[in-house]
Formats: sequence, C-alpha cells, structure tokens
Amino acid sequence: MNSDSRSVAENPAIADAIGESHLALSLVGVVEEAAIAAARTMGRGNPELADRAAVEAMRAAFEKVPINGTIVIGEGERDEAPMLYIGEQVGAPAPSGFAYPSYDVAVDPLEGTNLCATGGPGSIAVLAASEPGGLLHAPDCYMEKIIAGPACRGALDLEAPVAENLRTIARCLDRDVEDLVVIVLDRPRHRKLIEEIRQAGARIRLISDGDLSAGIAVAVRGAGVHAVMGIGGAPEGVLTAAALRCLGGAMVARLVIDTPELEERIQMMGIRDPRRVYTARDLAPGKRLIFAACGVTDGALLHGVRFFGDGCRTHSLVMTLASHTVRFVDSVRLEGPPGPRGVRLY
Ligand code: FBP
Repeated sequence: MNSDSRSVAENPAIADAIGESHLALSLVGVVEEAAIAAARTMGRGNPELADRAAVEAMRAAFEKVPINGTIVIGEGERDEAPMLYIGEQVGAPAPSGFAYPSYDVAVDPLEGTNLCATGGPGSIAVLAASEPGGLLHAPDCYMEKIIAGPACRGALDLEAPVAENLRTIARCLDRDVEDLVVIVLDRPRHRKLIEEIRQAGARIRLISDGDLSAGIAVAVRGAGVHAVMGIGGAPEGVLTAAALRCLGGAMVARLVIDTPELEERIQMMGIRDPRRVYTARDLAPGKRLIFAACGVTDGALLHGVRFFGDGCRTHSLVMTLASHTVRFVDSVRLEGPPGPRGVRLY
C-alpha cells in the first residue's frame, strides 16, 4: 500500500462514500430482482400474484446486501404480511465478530400492482434506505399531497386554493398555468379537485395508479409533467419524499386521518398533530438517504423489464443524497454465458 492509498482508506468521509456507492449498487440489485419477478407476471390479470412475486424476490435479494436493515415501511404488520413486514430485519448475515451498518428501509416491492397485472404503464419496484430515524414511520393510510419540481421548494401551500397553488407553480416554472400538466389519480374522491384544476386552466393527466413514479417524474426537468395533486397512499408519500430529497423536489403533505381507529393508531405511533403539514424533509429527514427504483412496465422515466430468451434487461434509477448522485442504470442479466445471439444493444 503506498502512502496515498493509506490516506484514502483512513479517511472516514471517503471510506463512507465508497461504502455508500457499493450499497447503492447492491440496492439496485434488490429492486432489479423484484422488478424481474413481477414483470414475468405482467398482463396475467392477477395483482396478488404480481405482488407476491415481487415481495419474494425482493426479500431473497436483501440477503446479499451488507446492512443490518429494519423495514419501517413495508407490506404491513407482521400478522398480515409474511414477508417484508414492518419491523422485519433484512440484510446479509454479518461475519462473526462484525456488524453491518444499521439502516431503516422503506419498500414497495411493486408500486402499481394493477398496472403490472394489466400491462399498464409505470409500475416500478422501489425502496429507500436511511440511517435509523431517517424515514417517517407512516401508517398505512391516505395522504394529501402536492408535489412539484425544485423551483417550487418552499412555495407550495396545502391550505391555499388549488388555483393559487397552480399560479405559484406556473410562476416558479416561468410559464403560464395553461402550460402546466398536473397528474391526478383517477378516483371519485378527486372529482372536485379535477374540476378546480380545469377551471384554473391547467391541463391534467389522469392516472389509474402510481402516484409515486408520478411524483418522481415531476421533479425531473423535461419529463413534461409539472405537479402531482390529490390523495394517495401515505407509504408511497414517504418513498416519494426520499426521492424528492435526492432530486431537490418540493412536496407538502398531510395524513388523512378519518376514522377513530386511525386516530388511535397515529397517537400510538407518536404522531401528535394529525393535521400537521409535512415537507419532503419532514417525511424523509435522513442525511444518508439512498433511493432505488427499477421499471417493471414502461413508464415516463424508466423502461420496463425486457426479456430476450437467454436473459433480460432492466432500467433503474438510484440516487444518494450525501454524494448528490443520480444514476440511471441499464443492466443486462444473462442466464449463462452469452448465447449465439449475443447481448442486444436496444
Ligand atoms: P399499489 O401498488 O399498492 O396497488 O398502489 C398503487 C397506488 O395507485 C399508489 O400509487 C397510490 O398512492 C395508491 O395506490 C392510491 O390508493 P387507492 O388505489 O386506494 O386510491
């Protein structure tokens, strides 16, 4: 070892950065495995089958990741989910006498189960990891959300009328309200919201599912969509917030606590103010956030899994907050040595 390499190895910041890059790539492997397994079930019309395939593959893939991980957002409580339940430990067993670093992990092995089951666009396998305490342990309830790109940070207001938020977003993006495309989940609960967006003059893209990938897309310049508005899942909200922290995007959100059971549950979880408005930083306060997603079916940001006989090709996004890195990863997995047809480029 020369003197330079010694100083690199002994520099904790560099050692951390190297460790983080390796971990980020390991986590890409986890979402890839889940996406491949789910994609095999695409179009079978069976959302449960698709979800189970993704969950089992993700669970198995975690066994190779060198972390002492705890699921904080997952498939539900231990008694309702056999795998990736909240509180479950994930990660490779550490060699005796060693301990891998502790991470909190939020997973959605298949976001957009119906999309995968019908072959619709935009289903992804997704996870976020952070140092312990870096991801809000959100209950499995709904969340009201407004999400937009980095230019809108600090400008969104959940209490303000829809038209006012749209004017703000348009101003921050230096365009007219009429130029905006707002993504809204196509649900009866959004009838009034859709009417208000139309009256304000903005354009709308209704989606049948998948407000998480929509939330990531609006934070990326050039995706052609500018905001997500409406009510979706709270667990998806925390995962979106982790992605937005890495992309610098803007989000304001509030849990929808509409039953006495939920009220009791959030109190037990230590959430004192049910009307609290959260930003992306409140939902995902971690300093060492890593976010990874892999396309299952084709979407705005990620290609779906493509199979070609002796292997498959996946398209993933992995982001690390501490090192400000956003990577798109295009992987080819072969089932053995390349066959006579070789590796396809496109
Ligand atoms: P699943 O993948 O768990 O089916 O979630 C899809 C989704 O559309 C999310 O993107 C969204 O946050 C949530 O469901 C909306 O819930 P609901 O379908 O009950 O309106």
